[in-house]
This record gives sequence, C-alpha cells and structure tokens, in this order.
Amino acid sequence: MSETVRISIDAKEYATEKGRTILEAARDNGVYIPTLCYFDGIAPTGTCRVCTVNVNGRPMAACTTPVAEGMTIENDTPELNEMRKTIIELLFVEGNHFCPSCEKSGTCDLQALAYRFKLMAPRFEYEFSQRDLDATPPKLIIERNRCILCKRCVKAIFADDGKALFAVSNRGNRAMINIDDKLAKTMSDELAEKAMNICPVGAIIKKGKGFSTPIGKRKYDTKPIGIENQVSS
Ligand code: FES
Repeated sequence: MSETVRISIDAKEYATEKGRTILEAARDNGVYIPTLCYFDGIAPTGTCRVCTVNVNGRPMAACTTPVAEGMTIENDTPELNEMRKTIIELLFVEGNHFCPSCEKSGTCDLQALAYRFKLMAPRFEYEFSQRDLDATPPKLIIERNRCILCKRCVKAIFADDGKALFAVSNRGNRAMINIDDKLAKTMSDELAEKAMNICPVGAIIKKGKGFSTPIGKRKYDTKPIGIENQVSS
C-alpha cells in the first residue's frame, strides 16, 4: 500500500502519495503550477524552470522534486509569478516568435503562458537570432526559430528500434534541435503527428497539418492555459 505524505501548498494542507513529484501532487489536488517543458508520461527534464516553487523557502522545480512529509510549498506568489513571467519573456526575445503567422498559434503553450502572465511590451532587447529552418524531413518542418529546447521531442519520439529521432547539438546559445536524417525518412504519419503535438511551440510542424484545426477552435482559443485546475490567479 502506498504511503501517504502531507504537504502544504500556499498554506493549504494536502495529502498525497510518497513518490509523487510536487507537480503531480499539486495536479492531483487541483492546484495549478505552470509548466512548459513538462509533458505527462515523459520523464521530466527540468529544463524550463517555469514550474519553480519555493520548497521550505528554497526555489525548486516542481516537476522534478519529489514530495516529502511536512513540505511547505509556495506556488502562487507575486514573486514566483514575476519570475515565471520573466522566463517567458526571455524565451520570446531569445527566439523568433511571430505568433500571428505561426501554425501553432492557439495551441502553443508558450503563447498561452504569455497571455496568462500578461506579457505586454518587451522589457528585454530582442536577440534576432539567426536560426535555420529544416524542411528536408519528408513529413516534418523543423522551425528552429521557435524552438525553446525543452527536449520533449528528444525524450518522446523514437523509431521502432528504440533510437531517438531528435537530439540537441551544440551548447549555450548555439544549441539547436536536430532530427536524424535517415530515421526521419522512415517516420510514419502517426509518429510525425505525435512529434508535432508533443512540441509545446511551433518548432515541429507536420507538413500539410499546420492549419487543419481552424484558428478560433484551437486548444487555448476557448480555454486559457491552467484554467481547468486553477485555484487562484
Ligand atoms: Fe518543470 Fe519545465 S516544467 S522545469
């Protein structure tokens, strides 16, 4: 039988199971913690830090930190939300995100979080990074201008023999996502669509699929991100 652990989030007590992460425990209890690189069913990488909470006074990633008895967690505070907003803003100025012309507009987690955190005029200078687009895979377009290096695709998209199709090459501001040319040629339509859907932004687009759901009927067009398990705003 699983062991019960008691934690508090924003001064409210919750019971959860030993072994759950803070993020999972929060979601189980209807508490929204914003995420960007996390995807249900994929081992968390903890790369974006949008889910940062204060654990017993120290900042930790909720998606990678397991719960422990008596943990005191702060989540919905002005300071944490300001820090999350800053991360989102930095991602916007680091890449080249032109939402109105992006196929993922309305289903993009980055865009949805920008609305949630009320991003207005940029506080930071745009980098206007030069990043190549790769349209050579038969079923996909890899639009690196929009990539936030969350590594969801690296962790979730595999060929039949278990080889990863995606990988990150280089480091720092030269880091970029790549697809294995040979494996890309063997991709099924289903796998290509899975890759597109697992990408939180518009960096992986299945050819011919970008606009199959009309604008206005997309995931976040009618329901803002986080609304389903939001306890406060
Ligand atoms: Fe936790 Fe990205 S969602 S670090």
